[in-house]
Amino acid sequence: MAETAGRLCLVTGATGYIGGRLVPRLLDAGFRVRCMARSARRLRDYPWAAAVEIAEADATDPDSTRRALDGVDVAYYLIHAIGGRGGFAETDRRAARTFAAAARDAGVKRLIYLGGMEPEEGASPHLRSRAEVGRILLDSGVPTVWLRAAVIIGSGSASFEMLRYLTERLPVMVTPRWVHSRVQPIAVRDVLHYLIGVADLPADVNRGFDIGGPDVLSYADMMRRYAAVAGLRRRIIIPVPVLSPWLSSLWVGGITPVPGRLARPLVESLRNEVICREHDIARYVAPPPEGLTGLDLAVSLALRRVREADVVTRWSSASVPGAPSDPLPTDPDWAGGSLYTDERSRDVAAPPRSLWEIIEGVGGERGWYSFPLAWRVRGFLDRLVGGVGLRRGRRDPRRLRVGETVDFWRVEEIEPGRLLRLRAEMRLPGLAWLELGVSQHDGRTRYTQRALFHPRGLPGHLYWWASKPFHNLVFGGMRDGIAQAAEQAAAASFARSERRKPASRRASRSG
Ligand SMILES: NC(=O)c1ccc[n+]([C@@H]2O[C@H](COP(=O)([O-])OP(=O)(O)OC[C@H]3O[C@@H](n4cnc5c(N)ncnc54)[C@H](OP(=O)(O)O)[C@@H]3O)[C@@H](O)[C@H]2O)c1
Repeated sequence: MAETAGRLCLVTGATGYIGGRLVPRLLDAGFRVRCMARSARRLRDYPWAAAVEIAEADATDPDSTRRALDGVDVAYYLIHAIGGRGGFAETDRRAARTFAAAARDAGVKRLIYLGGMEPEEGASPHLRSRAEVGRILLDSGVPTVWLRAAVIIGSGSASFEMLRYLTERLPVMVTPRWVHSRVQPIAVRDVLHYLIGVADLPADVNRGFDIGGPDVLSYADMMRRYAAVAGLRRRIIIPVPVLSPWLSSLWVGGITPVPGRLARPLVESLRNEVICREHDIARYVAPPPEGLTGLDLAVSLALRRVREADVVTRWSSASVPGAPSDPLPTDPDWAGGSLYTDERSRDVAAPPRSLWEIIEGVGGERGWYSFPLAWRVRGFLDRLVGGVGLRRGRRDPRRLRVGETVDFWRVEEIEPGRLLRLRAEMRLPGLAWLELGVSQHDGRTRYTQRALFHPRGLPGHLYWWASKPFHNLVFGGMRDGIAQAAEQAAAASFARSERRKPASRRASRSG
């Protein structure tokens, strides 16, 4: 149990996109935090798990929900059932009613709900259901703030991920007419700012607030702006009148990795214009000191991790990403943009030191330990298109430092004896890294190798798939070549040390 002084907040939906990013900010703001999840196990891997209380409860179950709300001052309602199995509207209605009754019974002082924006007319089933939840909570008898947001921009947000994949994968798009609907997106960091700010509102405030960023634009323009920020060519968007929401959700499901049962209700909602109708929130919560985030900056923040080549923290579960716009290792598999990997490993009959010497000496005169012709052809092709090719070699045949070049790579990180990460500087339709590592398992030395590729646009995806048939030859050969070189170096060093020993000791040992 957290000892932090302050009010106790309950965060429901803590395993979700918003909840998982809200918890560390509440802790930073000095709140005590209890997280509610249907399965406590799912919260185990969050870096803040040890700093919060965890309550296992299903919002449709009155008893467990009531227990989770015991002693709570402020309760965040971040639950929704879309993406799950079965009808979401009925489940969400039941969950909201159960939670509202339990919160009243527990004497909760403030309820905060983040929902969607309600269009003037013709709301999709998803937006209708989000609005129904808002009304149930407002009628609960517990002072409630209902924040209404349109598309939230940040890595991991389902609607942002749809935008990302569609724009990155399709240079030309035939789209339904909804691309002309206007929307007022908001950056995830501004959403979190408001979610925390409204916790201090006086008890007589029981109402909804629209929240949005400074830009109002069509989905088509949002895709074009995304393409510009991501450094992609201008996207050609051809709207046609015939695509039904059902057909377009099939189409979105086919192009993007966002699961169909999540994509469908979201796509249906795209036909609705979602623009703030009031900005009353400004009377209660001051905007962030740096102002509300514009779309270009919000997109740029969401892409920051990949841009800054910070892929390792992104795709491993060991680190705590800083900004809310960053991906979290606990995000669903489909979130975070495309990253292709080729991972290989092998036990090596050599001490870790011998393996590390081979890794640190890679490239230049010693080459890449696999299919030398393929590497030379790759270098030649790179030079043909104006790249650096293999001619740069390396400064020192044995030692490497961060920032140095090795043929068409640059050393991005080096942890002596453990990890070498190279970032590609050849001409590529995307960003690429090569990681070579040494570890020990049960007294054995293990070599690990990871090639990572973040494609840029459709050419990037085509490049990866076109080169895939050669990966066994190039990357598999490299793994085996490096392992064998380490084993030979270890054997040679053993033989040398044996030769240096006095003849008498050699004889006594062999006897
Ligand atoms: N993302 C956006 O672009 C966006 C835009 C506007 C508004 N919003 C609103 O923001 C809120 C949070 O959205 P999100 O994107 O963070 O959602 P999310 O990632 O899909 O998370 C939904 C959460 O609800 C929990 N949940 C579902 N059914 C539950 C139940 N019966 N009992 C307890 N927990 C349950 C899930 O927990 P488990 O499955 O782990 O149990 C999960 O943590 C929603 O109200 C949404 O309408 C989101």
